[in-house]
Amino acid sequence: MASNSVEKRLIIPLPGNEELAAAIAAAGNFQLGALETRHFPDGESYVRFLDDVEGRHVDLICTLAHPNDNFLAVVFAADAAREFNARSVNLVTPYLAYMRQDIRFKAGEAITSRTFARLVSSSFDSLLTIDPHLHRYHSLSEIYTIPATHLASAPVLAKWISQNIEKPLLIGPDEESEQWVSQIGELSGAPFTVLRKTRYGDRNVEIHMGDLSQWKGRTPVLVDDIASSGRTMVEAAKQLQAQGLAKPVCVVVHGLFADDAYQRLSAIAEKVVSTDCVPHISNGISVAELLVEGINEFAATQTPKAEKSA
Ligand code: R5P
Repeated sequence: MASNSVEKRLIIPLPGNEELAAAIAAAGNFQLGALETRHFPDGESYVRFLDDVEGRHVDLICTLAHPNDNFLAVVFAADAAREFNARSVNLVTPYLAYMRQDIRFKAGEAITSRTFARLVSSSFDSLLTIDPHLHRYHSLSEIYTIPATHLASAPVLAKWISQNIEKPLLIGPDEESEQWVSQIGELSGAPFTVLRKTRYGDRNVEIHMGDLSQWKGRTPVLVDDIASSGRTMVEAAKQLQAQGLAKPVCVVVHGLFADDAYQRLSAIAEKVVSTDCVPHISNGISVAELLVEGINEFAATQTPKAEKSA
């Protein structure tokens, strides 16, 4: 069942990632494969390849929005692909989990970003993701030991905002979001401002906003990398309302939307739109083509096995 080296890359989705994987395969002219997966009655994961991966570059598409549920299956798949002599096994995870615990905020805490990076690095040949939460780390290579590429969604978001929002005022809800709003501002030519946030707990944040009354004729566009509890965006939207500005359009790269986060945010926003990095009802911006560019870039750097052993 050996395969020849001109075969297309094999794009294989983990459960929940089928739509994005199909879009990537179509846009990149890759081959779409499939895994059979299920849970045993006790919850253990079952994984079976339905394609011959021998000699192939295999890209496993698995967003890690619910990492505790999803991670083992993708690791099992990666390990099996290696046993079946895949040429390379790559993790394409549009949302990379466990990036926010990047220091010990309190004595005794686990720095989970490092541990998670070690686990991923030991299972895959490379990693491709979009807008990981790089705050105190400047690059993924500080914690990942495999080639780890991150793509910026800013050009895709800037295009969507330019095409869909009239006279936008870009607003980053906290200091960390400046990296995204400033880039989107540059690309779209829209003005931007950044608010300040104090976090008191998982679902308890305070947003500090200066006087934005000069922007009253504009559509506020709140932009953030992650909406998890949604409180950051909800509190920012409340502040805008208090100053008499219009309801904001909320643009999120990774819409995790835990519990009732989406309902709360939708109630106070003009519109909530997210990228398909995480499958959600709010998806309206596709990152498939961006991921194809990323896959093609790292594909160009992957040395064929034959050359490595020559
Ligand atoms: C924080 O550092 C991130 O950029 C997001 O602002 C944060 O993860 C949002 O979390 P939540 O939706 O729970 O307020």
